[in-house]
Amino acid sequence: MPTPDLLDPRKEHTLVLIKPDGFRRGLTGEILRRIEQKGYVLKGLKIKKAPLALLEEHYEEHIERHYFPALAEYMMEGPLVAIVAEGDRVIEGLRIMAGATNPTLANPGTIRGDLGRDWGPDAVQNVVHTSDSPTSAIREISLWFPELAYDESGESAL
Ligand code: PPS
Repeated sequence: MPTPDLLDPRKEHTLVLIKPDGFRRGLTGEILRRIEQKGYVLKGLKIKKAPLALLEEHYEEHIERHYFPALAEYMMEGPLVAIVAEGDRVIEGLRIMAGATNPTLANPGTIRGDLGRDWGPDAVQNVVHTSDSPTSAIREISLWFPELAYDESGESAL
């Protein structure tokens, strides 16, 4: 029997984080609506306060960058929403939907362009994170959803 909580390894998945500014501002429903209306399928969804150790792993490529302390502080300001979305070319699709890193420069029509802006000189508050490659997506999903492993039997029910 397939185990219901496993991901189908034949399908593409990405991790989306609705960052603490997005959650605090009540944007969760709007962002979920955009993901679902685009046609992607939600496979994981949780509200979570991120511990520093998790953020250090998640942002391992950025940990030496000058902005990492401000980024970590921002990501720990309050709860965030972690999402696994599934669909053909979902990694690329959600990067485009998220828009440019800087919310002031992000194009209208994107999540950051429509819902984000600059709020001062502290950390860039850009509403969402999305995985930037298949390797990152697999790594990030296993960090945020350790219970949601891939079903290598090929019998996934979801
Ligand atoms: S990207 O999207 O990976 O190309 O963006 P990049 O510019 O390389 O930034 C990597 C992540 O670091 C975040 N970042 C910052 N956060 C807060 N403050 C400052 N100044 C800042 N500069 C970069 C950026 O939002 C990326 O995080 P994620 O969560 O991947 O969007």
